[in-house]
Amino acid sequence: MSANTEQTYRNPDEVAKVIRFAIEHLEPKLSEWLLIEYSHAVRIAGRGRVVITNVKKPAERRKLQRFVRVESRGVAELFPRSRLLVLDPRARKSLCPTDVGEDTVMVVGGILGDDPPQGRTEKLLSSRLRRVKRRNLGKEQLSIDGTVYVAKQIAEGKQLEEIPLVCEIEIRVAPGCSVVLPFTYPLRQGRPLISPRLVAYLKRKGVRF
Ligand SMILES: C[S@@+](CC[C@H](N)C(=O)[O-])C[C@H]1O[C@@H](n2cnc3c(N)ncnc32)[C@H](O)[C@@H]1O
Repeated sequence: MSANTEQTYRNPDEVAKVIRFAIEHLEPKLSEWLLIEYSHAVRIAGRGRVVITNVKKPAERRKLQRFVRVESRGVAELFPRSRLLVLDPRARKSLCPTDVGEDTVMVVGGILGDDPPQGRTEKLLSSRLRRVKRRNLGKEQLSIDGTVYVAKQIAEGKQLEEIPLVCEIEIRVAPGCSVVLPFTYPLRQGRPLISPRLVAYLKRKGVRF
């Protein structure tokens, strides 16, 4: 990123056309699973519309810079609070199209799913962003990329209730062997929206819960 990044982000006329999502990296390690979700989220939102913030480790920044804007600073340092809207399953209100203005930056936790959910978005993100709007996309836990997909649809005018979701998906990883992902996924053309790279990863690793 250029040295004048902060100034650029603070200029609403410029940024309104650019950043729509900030993914605040909050896991201690950039695992392969997380990298796959980030990369899919960027494809869904559009490369120029996302910044991954709070990436403290230079090696992790280098990996991410191959496909997305990256910042070592946290989202609170980069944008005025009035522009931020945190997506948090524990928020009281659900996101609706009128919540998202031209210069709104929707903040997604760079946090992997927990089963059961531990409320880490609230603990690690919302509680640190006081006086910032918080909205849920339902009470169930979506993936990072699924969150970006659903929030984008709402920003484009859909109501949350109009977006089909499925709770829990089962992926066959080998003959007679499957993995259940205990998270909620949006359906696109009747099929759960999941990164093909994540499916390949699960098949390779045979990940179990
Ligand atoms: C895989 S989720 C992690 C949720 C975390 N385990 C928790 O209990 O808060 C990653 C991020 O997607 C967003 N997210 C997931 N489900 C959501 C929902 N139902 N409503 C709003 N945001 C959601 C949040 O920003 C969250 O930090």
